[in-house]
This record gives sequence, structure tokens and C-alpha cells, in this order.
Amino acid sequence: MTGAEKRNIVLCGFMGTGKSSVGKRLAARLNYRFLDMDELIEKETGLTIPQIFSSQGEPAFRALECRMVERVAELTGYVVATGGGAIVNPQNLQTLKRCGVVISLTADTKTVLARTGKGDTRPLLQGSDRVERIRQLMKQREPFYAQADFIVDTSKLRIKQVVQAIVDRLQAFGFTP
Ligand code: S3P
Repeated sequence: MTGAEKRNIVLCGFMGTGKSSVGKRLAARLNYRFLDMDELIEKETGLTIPQIFSSQGEPAFRALECRMVERVAELTGYVVATGGGAIVNPQNLQTLKRCGVVISLTADTKTVLARTGKGDTRPLLQGSDRVERIRQLMKQREPFYAQADFIVDTSKLRIKQVVQAIVDRLQAFGFTP
């Protein structure tokens, strides 16, 4: 892609909407580099996300996430997959918008449930009523995801189709394939 070399493409959205898998494919398609914020947090702390939540608590994780957002803002030419809660912090959203196009991926509850699956270790989806948990958290976060530059509903799409939908929409932001 040309015309917007200085910018990043930032994928936000609820858990299980495909940010990482779409991000990798999108980066390959556009010849961009790919960065997964949660993976980087894990690599740098030497702890898994569940370990960070259980040993240090969610506020400590959010602080790490915030620092990661600040670092992402220094980069150019990356497709970035954020963690599902990153843009719930308005400061993070503002920073990410400054450094690139922010895209929210969405999916319906059933799809998120199927994609996150049994044995999933995401700390925020633990507990007995997983469906209700997803519903509640999604509703709570909807207004934040809605502030992205554009939204792609991934519920009925394959990864390839999501990538194409994003590439199509990016043209309006000065990216030319
Ligand atoms: C979270 C989503 C997770 C991870 C952490 C918190 C969230 O990332 O950052 O468990 O608050 O929605 P994924 O969206 O990649 O699962």
C-alpha cells in the first residue's frame, strides 16, 4: 500500500473478533509489519496474560497496556492487534488514533463464544455463565468500539473476507492497494 506510509493500522474490538489472525494476514497482504500488543506484554514481562491478572491484578495489566500503546504510537508501518480492552481507556484510543487508522472488529455473542471456546484462559471470561459475561462486557464496551474510524462485523466472514473488507475501506483513508 502507498500513500499512507507513515501510519499504522490498529485493530481493536472484543475478544474473539479475530484481531490477531486478521492482523497477521492483513500485514502480509499490505507488506506491513505485525505487532500483537498482548504478545509483546507477555514477552517483556515473561508472564502470560492470565499470570499478570492473577499475580498483579487487572489495574497492573492496564498500566502495562497503556505503556505499550505509548510505544506503538512511536511506530510506523505496522498492523497492530490490541487487546480487547485497550480502547476502553479514552487516552489509549486518542493515542492510537493519532498514530494510525483505528478499526473495530465486532462479532455477535454466539460467534465470540464459539471462537473463544472451551479451555479458554482469558481472565475476563472466566466464571460459570460465560455467555452472560460476554453479553454484559460487550454491551458495556460497545460505545468505545463505536469510536473507531470504522467497524467491520466479522461474525459471518472468513479471515480472508475480513482482510478484503478492511483493504476496501482503507482506501477512503488514503491507503491505495
Ligand atoms: C482483554 C482482552 C485480551 C487481553 C486481556 C484483556 C480485554 O486480549 O488483553 O485478557 O479486556 O478484553 P484479546 O482481545 O486478544 O483476547
